[in-house]
Amino acid sequence: MKMNYIHKITAGIVLSLALTSCFKDENSAGYEYMPDMYRSPAIEAYVDYGEIRGWQQDTALMNKQSSLLPPMGTIPFVGEDTKYNLPYHRLPSENMVKSHSISSLEFSNEDYGLSAEDPNPMKLTQTNHDKGEVLYNRYCTSCHGEKGQGDGKVANNESINPPASAFTIPDGRKFYSITYGRGVMGAHASQLNQKERWQVISYINAMNGAPIVADEVETVEEAKPSLAEGLASLMNTTSNSDSHGEHGTEEGHGEAQSLALEGLVFATGSANLDEEKSAATLETLLEFMKSNHKTLILEGHTDNTGNAGANLKLSGDRAAAVKTYLTHNGIDAKRIESIGFGSTKPAATNDTEEGRAQNRRTEVKIK
Ligand code: HEC
Repeated sequence: MKMNYIHKITAGIVLSLALTSCFKDENSAGYEYMPDMYRSPAIEAYVDYGEIRGWQQDTALMNKQSSLLPPMGTIPFVGEDTKYNLPYHRLPSENMVKSHSISSLEFSNEDYGLSAEDPNPMKLTQTNHDKGEVLYNRYCTSCHGEKGQGDGKVANNESINPPASAFTIPDGRKFYSITYGRGVMGAHASQLNQKERWQVISYINAMNGAPIVADEVETVEEAKPSLAEGLASLMNTTSNSDSHGEHGTEEGHGEAQSLALEGLVFATGSANLDEEKSAATLETLLEFMKSNHKTLILEGHTDNTGNAGANLKLSGDRAAAVKTYLTHNGIDAKRIESIGFGSTKPAATNDTEEGRAQNRRTEVKIK
């Protein structure tokens, strides 16, 4: 009798355990006592930000790649410097792996020879020369000597004088040897990043008589920031004004800063947005909207040719077309306002074709 009772209890427990495990979501990690322990609080490129339980449930972001733009001034994502961010494609030689404790599972005994063909991505400008000079004097003079004659103090003391001809080899090969070392010279990959290694090479080449070219290419590019950079700095200006917490002053102190969207193509006289030709601008805008929770204001403007009423409608429709693109791609319509001003707010003169072209524009502001 008693045994029977125990059997029943045991069967009951087994059954309830079986049932609970059947209904359990097998993808669930179970109850989260300390979410931080398996969901990193740090910004990570491929975490699904739509799904962080207890903190965020954002269906617009859910199951989408969350790789965001890096904070301003950290990793160069656009512009000149990006070409130095890819990993170096040449492997160390077997000897270097052994003798210089380079922790690489792979090695190549051909890459040193092949590196001679690698192009130098850097122009020998004054800026690069000057940066290279500082680095050369810090890391190389001790052996190679101030003028590259191989008579540095350390080299003299240890009788390991590098030949002056060390600096006449092709740039790609210099880069290889600076990265992985050569003979008694150690690897410098951890002291100098790729850009700095090329800057040192610039300086060495100038020492050997290579001409220095003007800096203008880089300054032109810096003068015109990309759309992504422009949007990021709009963000900064908005958050600054927020942090003062003086709401009343916003209207009084002029308008929020705006940015003209370049590269939007509409059919002439209509609000038909050519999504293919405008792709670069639209995608950058979309990425931007996915990377934050701010509200975007799209303002359409025209030049003063034609009927003022029609212009007003056209500018509003064009701004709305950009909004439609964003909402079709998952951005909440509540986060976008669109408005048309027609020709009432010209950015330049309407007397020249150039000025009129500047006046036909769509601007963005961030709230
Ligand atoms: C500890 C002394 C020492 C330091 C520091 C040093 N080098 Fe060297 N370097 C040498 C010696 C010795 C050689 C010749 C190696 C050989 O061919 O065996 C050499 C060779 C080279 C070569 C020719 C490599 C080749 O493939 O033939 C280059 C280029 C070079 N060094 C650049 C640099 C630069 C740039 C720096 C500073 C970032 C630097 N070295 C720092 C000692 C040094």
